[in-house]
Amino acid sequence: MKALLILPLIAFCSFVSIAQVYTLPNLPFSFEAYEPYIDAQTMQIHHDKHHAAYVNNLNKAITGTSMESSSMNNLLMYASFRSAAVRNNAGGHYNHSLFWEILAPTTAQKLISSELQTAIINQYTSLDSLKTLLNQAASTRFGSGWAWLMVGTDGKLAVVSTANQDNPIMDISKDRGIPILGIDVWEHAYYLKYQNKRGDYLGAIWNLINWGVVSDKYAAALNDPLLKELEKDNWLALKDFHKVMAQTFHPSEENNFEPLRTRSGELYAKAILLKNSAPPASANNPRVQDALTRLEKQCLTIHQLAQKPAKNEASKNAALFEQISKAHDIFHEVEGLCHD
Ligand SMILES: [Fe+2]
Repeated sequence: MKALLILPLIAFCSFVSIAQVYTLPNLPFSFEAYEPYIDAQTMQIHHDKHHAAYVNNLNKAITGTSMESSSMNNLLMYASFRSAAVRNNAGGHYNHSLFWEILAPTTAQKLISSELQTAIINQYTSLDSLKTLLNQAASTRFGSGWAWLMVGTDGKLAVVSTANQDNPIMDISKDRGIPILGIDVWEHAYYLKYQNKRGDYLGAIWNLINWGVVSDKYAAALNDPLLKELEKDNWLALKDFHKVMAQTFHPSEENNFEPLRTRSGELYAKAILLKNSAPPASANNPRVQDALTRLEKQCLTIHQLAQKPAKNEASKNAALFEQISKAHDIFHEVEGLCHD
């Protein structure tokens, strides 16, 4: 009898298995190929154990949630809204996948492109100066983390560092951009061979950097729409306004006008702050400024209406809904114009 009850349970448990949205990429070369700069055992444990664990734990964390269909960029961009499991493991998977791509034995490396070389010389005077800056960022990262060369939202190269498995795509990173070269400074990346001598590992790693792949990543990042998305996402006044707009407009769509009536002053204040904020370069144009002026006026209208005593509450709500809908349309106009 017991067996009859357990069998369907086993069948059910195997049915609700972990989603395999992400998979561990193969290492492009053998574990030994990175010797003598990184030893084979470190490469094996790093790839087969550490990276594999990030992939497995990421799949576990998103199973049964809407994040199963989110893109990796989306998981990373809104990391501050995610659980620690998603933030750490999505970062771990993305960061290590990039790391394996940009490492190659000397014999398999491609040359740097003239475009990337020119950009490096213009910004850092030489490749050696850039390496020094990256090594500084990597050696001063307290505890575990990464040093990055990225394309920032202004289209320029930048050297930054992030803690743990964070990266510059994440909204928790002060500096936003698309990484094109990453140096893993977790102890698991070097401890077996270098122990506490992180500096020796950082000296050796340059023998493995495949500048051809970094050049391809540089060209791709410059044309990646994600760069504009990151730039807009960094417009904090727009994010602040959006939050209050969402928390007042959406309840009103369901006939709940309490949030809008009590927070109309806050909505208007956020619209003023947005109008007076510095927009990102891609949104710094007269059409956006015009829309922001209209948005501020519209929010004032809403606030005045919300404050006004009313004989008929239902008709006041109807009027409020008409006005907040107009504000919502203008807001989306601003968002759309940012892409131009
Ligand atoms: Fe690592």
